[in-house]
Amino acid sequence: MDNERGLFGNDLQRRLQAAALAAAGEYRDTPGAVFAARMAGTDDPKKFGWDRIEGILRNEGAITFRMIPINRCAQIEQRLAEIGCTISWWDVFDGPSDEIRAACERIVNRPREDFVLIEPSASDDAAFFECAQAFMAECGVAPYPTQVLSGGLGPVAFAVLLNPEDGSVVATAFSYFPYNRHSTHRKSAWAGLVAVRDDLRGRGLGAFVNALVLKKAVEEMGAERIQEFARTSNVASCKMIEHCGLSLRTDVRSGIAQPVEAESFTR
Ligand SMILES: CC(C)(COP(=O)(O)OP(=O)(O)OC[C@H]1O[C@@H](n2cnc3c(N)ncnc32)[C@H](O)[C@@H]1OP(=O)(O)O)[C@@H](O)C(=O)NCCC(=O)NCCS
Repeated sequence: MDNERGLFGNDLQRRLQAAALAAAGEYRDTPGAVFAARMAGTDDPKKFGWDRIEGILRNEGAITFRMIPINRCAQIEQRLAEIGCTISWWDVFDGPSDEIRAACERIVNRPREDFVLIEPSASDDAAFFECAQAFMAECGVAPYPTQVLSGGLGPVAFAVLLNPEDGSVVATAFSYFPYNRHSTHRKSAWAGLVAVRDDLRGRGLGAFVNALVLKKAVEEMGAERIQEFARTSNVASCKMIEHCGLSLRTDVRSGIAQPVEAESFTR
């Protein structure tokens, strides 16, 4: 699949996805780099290098900072302000595989018959991935490129729930490994892209679809820990994540840095 084909979103989102895909090999090998799929990323700005961070912000327009110790956040904010950029932080939730697996088993073992589960793979039609990406975007979640969602760049857990009557997407969730061998988080999977059709929210569907991918990340991908991010104000997302066995980390934050005038990238 050529790079242009699997991209999804507005011009900025597609440009960032293309740049992240083009640099995927390099980010998998560079100390301090994170393969964040929808943009460049770093979990150690010093090792990754501020010259590189500034170049990415200038040329691409966004970069994500991951698992930054709270006591370093103000320094990063100040450094970004000096180059006309700002960062929007998420809360970080994470947990060890045994606790997550136990919580998720309880959730997925409750039978639900109100949808059809699809776990798309590279052999699925590109149009199916586009439907899932369009659904995420409608829910305000910036999608990942198909190359990543399909497992083409490493192991993934991707769950899509469909309405059995018309085959339309009603929920999504996704997990993969963003950190490289140099990172202390290399055995941690990230999970996210959780979205539920708005008229079906508040009935446990978010926790269910999230639990499906978390369980798969532990059992099939071998994740030792899993992390998810959410804004403090996104109460439904925070609660859903906690129901799945992850806990709020008060010592670290993750976020997206962008030029001050840029539009917020995702929820
Ligand atoms: C986040 C999202 C996936 C949750 O899906 P969902 O199906 O509603 O999730 P669940 O029903 O499993 O759980 C939501 C929890 O939040 C609670 N909740 C929902 N809205 C709430 C609100 N405004 N205030 C307080 N609690 C709220 C629900 O009661 C439930 O908690 P409970 O099980 O303890 O009662 C869904 O809201 C969504 O698609 N939002 C838009 C996309 C998004 O923000 N994704 C997350 C990006 S980080």
